[in-house]
Amino acid sequence: MTKQVIVSGMRPTGKLHLGHYLGVIQNWVELQHKYDSYFFVADWHALTTKYDKTDELKQDVLEVAMDWLASGIDPEIATIYVQSHIPEIAELNIYLGMATPQNWVERDPTLKDMAKILRTKEGQNSQISYGLMGYPVLMSADIMMMNADAVPVGNDQVAHIEITRDIARRFNNIYNTEFFKEPKPLLNKCSLICGLDGNKMGKSFHNDIKISDTAEDTAKKIMTAITDRSRMRKTDLGHPDECEVAFKYWQIFGSEQELETIRPECEKGERGCADCKRQLGCKINERLKEIRERRSYYETHPDEVKDILSQGDKKARARASEIISQVRDIVRMY
Ligand code: TRP
Repeated sequence: MTKQVIVSGMRPTGKLHLGHYLGVIQNWVELQHKYDSYFFVADWHALTTKYDKTDELKQDVLEVAMDWLASGIDPEIATIYVQSHIPEIAELNIYLGMATPQNWVERDPTLKDMAKILRTKEGQNSQISYGLMGYPVLMSADIMMMNADAVPVGNDQVAHIEITRDIARRFNNIYNTEFFKEPKPLLNKCSLICGLDGNKMGKSFHNDIKISDTAEDTAKKIMTAITDRSRMRKTDLGHPDECEVAFKYWQIFGSEQELETIRPECEKGERGCADCKRQLGCKINERLKEIRERRSYYETHPDEVKDILSQGDKKARARASEIISQVRDIVRMY
């Protein structure tokens, strides 16, 4: 039996953090063995909000690719490529755009959030571009370009995938075909990791730990993590369940056994928050050690990374060009 196809992408926002790793990439690393997998850097999607800030775009594409490779995406198994190197996606975007009612994109909740963030960042006068309105259609083109069965993403992307399913169904109806599959979101079980301040982890909130941070930086950052705010001294009785960040991280990175010792020690006032975070820093660094070693390798061998991407581009284009010629037939283009 041929394997089912999955497609997923990430915008090149620069070096990725643990939220990306635990929330999405780790899932890809597992799924790549089971599915025919296509992972791409969504550089066109980066333009939807940063078309006027492209100085670092090229480097950011490489950073994302290096983080994926370091995390264990295997280019021998999965196809990794750059969105803008697949012109067929832009063509499919045109056909899908014609078939998508305007109010479908207008009510996309994720897009509404993005527009809100953009307005607060850039001021009330910032314009929502035509390109940004097309975000969910372009994303549908990414997914349908490979006629994917499923899309492994974080929770925040599910609304987009719903639109993709609607667009696929509508296209099939209009052209009286069953060509496109209705791709399903594939969520992973991992709990979301919060930032060092207890809010959502994000680059722009300066509360993140990057995959590529050094062990020293990581240890320093962990010391700033919020703990149980009611606790002043080491001997005060602790409340692990009210510890806003550190204990949550322990639940992600620690073993059952470790949690079984940490919890009572904290509750009895036998474990100070500073010591606790020092240990936690070591724990996280241990987990990331191999990934960071691989990353340093790729940082010193950028040509290898570029090579992997261009081979991925070729493989992705081979599938895309087959699909686009069928789509042209279905739409009855000249
Ligand atoms: N919107 C996704 C994000 O912000 C990136 C993305 C673009 C994507 N196209 C996609 C994800 C297609 C999955 C499938 O992370």
